[in-house]
Amino acid sequence: MSGLPTKGVSLPLARPRGRRVEAEMPSEHYYTPRPSARSRPGQILVPAGGRTLVLATEAGVFSRSRLDAGGQLLMKALAPLLPASRRLMDLGCGYGPVGLWAAASFPHLEVVLTDINERAVGLCRRNIVANGINNATVRLGDGYQPVAGEAFDLVATNPPIRAGMAVVTAFIADAPAHLRPGGSLLLVARTRQGARTFARIMGQYFPVVGEVEKGGGYRVYRADNPQQGG
Ligand SMILES: C[S@@+](CC[C@H](N)C(=O)[O-])C[C@H]1O[C@@H](n2cnc3c(N)ncnc32)[C@H](O)[C@@H]1O
Repeated sequence: MSGLPTKGVSLPLARPRGRRVEAEMPSEHYYTPRPSARSRPGQILVPAGGRTLVLATEAGVFSRSRLDAGGQLLMKALAPLLPASRRLMDLGCGYGPVGLWAAASFPHLEVVLTDINERAVGLCRRNIVANGINNATVRLGDGYQPVAGEAFDLVATNPPIRAGMAVVTAFIADAPAHLRPGGSLLLVARTRQGARTFARIMGQYFPVVGEVEKGGGYRVYRADNPQQGG
């Protein structure tokens, strides 16, 4: 698949000498709606559609210093589905690696990215503009609230496992209402963080669920909406 980032390249910006090096997420989680962590800008390079996206990252967002391996596996699972799709939702987009890779690689797509973390949404918005992407928009909000009444061919999510089972279950349970007939939810999770459990939960809301990618300790599951709806 052309443009698929098999290896993310991270370019953290230079840090002033003599400063204490802080842990990546010192006092708050990446799913905090309003992170207060001191600014630590970084950049991540993502190959997409024959060019390289330069994505800005920051303290207080998920995986600020490298392209997440789960996100990369999700891109691999999405790649064969995107040519025949029209609207993609990237639910819990962070700074935007998955949805912006999809938008840049497949210009016919309309991509909607959403996140509850306002710093992530701000970064994603900057990344859309800085990379000249004109088929993606980003919205702030909890779960599917920013896309109320809208439907997609695909919903892709690298969900916030640390936010708890209730949040991830809502990402799954509310998906059918936002998928067109025949549309699919793709979810990636670490095997050790309950990937198979999430697949079972997907099975409670969708008639068909299958594992479509596996590697590096992660699994991607795909759940298909019935062709005729409901
Ligand atoms: C594991 S990160 C994935 C980020 C990005 N998609 C990636 O692959 O690098 C999960 C994202 O979900 C967001 N999130 C957490 N709770 C959420 C909620 N209730 N609604 C929407 N997004 C949420 C977090 O802020 C975080 O950016």
